[in-house]
Amino acid sequence: MSTNSEQRGGFTSYFGAVAAAVGSAVGLGNIWRFPYIAGEYGGGAFIMLYLIFVFGLGVPIMIGEFVIGRRSGRNAMGAFRVLSPKHKGWLGIGILAVITCVIIYSFYSVVAGWTIEYTWLSCTNGLAGKEASEISEAFTSFIQHPYLPILFQGLLVFLTGAVVIGGVQKGIEKFTKIVMPVLFFIMLLLCVRSLTLPGSKEGMSFLFKPEFGNLTATGVLAAMGQAIFSLSIGAGLLITYGSYVRKEDNMMSSCFFIASADTTIALLAGIAIFPAVFTFGLSPASGPSLVFETLPNVFNNMPMGQFFAILFFVLLALAAITTTISLLEVIVLWVVEELHLKRTSATIITSLVIFALGALCSLSLGTLKDFTILGYTFFDACDKLTATYLMPIGALAVTVYLGWFYKKEDVLDEVSNHGTLKTWYIKLFYFVLRYIAPIVLTVILITGSLGIAG
Ligand code: PHE
Repeated sequence: MSTNSEQRGGFTSYFGAVAAAVGSAVGLGNIWRFPYIAGEYGGGAFIMLYLIFVFGLGVPIMIGEFVIGRRSGRNAMGAFRVLSPKHKGWLGIGILAVITCVIIYSFYSVVAGWTIEYTWLSCTNGLAGKEASEISEAFTSFIQHPYLPILFQGLLVFLTGAVVIGGVQKGIEKFTKIVMPVLFFIMLLLCVRSLTLPGSKEGMSFLFKPEFGNLTATGVLAAMGQAIFSLSIGAGLLITYGSYVRKEDNMMSSCFFIASADTTIALLAGIAIFPAVFTFGLSPASGPSLVFETLPNVFNNMPMGQFFAILFFVLLALAAITTTISLLEVIVLWVVEELHLKRTSATIITSLVIFALGALCSLSLGTLKDFTILGYTFFDACDKLTATYLMPIGALAVTVYLGWFYKKEDVLDEVSNHGTLKTWYIKLFYFVLRYIAPIVLTVILITGSLGIAG
């Protein structure tokens, strides 16, 4: 086994691993993806389901991934080699995870690039005094530009690579500790401004009033996919980070903490965005452009708007980078440990591949718009494929492995820190992992896909 802690470039402390898991979880998934997906699928009912998925399904699977990581002390693929040396088939979970991270990173880096452009736009006050319709047009013409967004995407991929080459030890930990609380504070301020806009009532009822009649099987699949995407489940990431968790730490409370922080930021993003959507006559279902078209209006309508706009986009870009670092780390660690490349070459090669795939994603929004896969642009295909299918399938594989293949006593021994933690939740956790999660994941994956096909 070629694994050792220097090559892994990991975290030195338990806090580092939890901070990194929060850094990975909180990102564009919360502030960019959550509101637009919730908007597309009708708001309230979607969000209720989302919360059920996060705490009922997501948290037990997160704990499960931590169990695999801590018990083995290895990367997403090496973990299965250590835990089940005679059954090579499980290594497939690791390969699936790496492929998933490559695809996510590709489209994610494009959106992260947009946040850098918007930081620049805020610094030059480029959107001040503009009408809502002009702001929307500016955004569309920017993302359809043949090379500008690709330049920003390249910059993001470069910055991420620079951090990962040096090892992620201190970077993420420091980033997360400062960035997350300030981001949280700004989100609160934005919520206050948004809630005092004339469309706030309509926005809040769109967000929180469940109309279950509007919810389709595809919507349920999307809610599950978003919960899994936002918590970074089923992509090998939590296995990797779990391998840094200390033996005496309580993984159950860590996972609840990570999920709660993640959900709070997502809900705050919704509260900041939807009242503004209704005030400025925008469509809640406008897709990936939602955040970039609504929030500049909120900034234009608040005192010191430019200052807050700069701060917000800088923090969003940083939150995106803590996530891209984690995505790149899963891939690089795999290349280093399994293909035996040096960390530097692994990072450079991976980054070049991601840059090329990301450029394709970016072009598919403009120049290559007519090139579609099953009716989706390359960008949308990457987004939907990972969140809706690859990650839930990865999560399903983890639950089947732990619930039906790996020994029950060993799973319980690991979650309970060798029997020292005694809580009723352990039984529930195992029950969900063995029965509820595999059934729910399978049923939703199948019926949701039929809904998409139909
Ligand atoms: N959870 C991240 C976000 O919400 C996305 C992500 C998915 C990151 C999978 C790593 C792995 O932005």
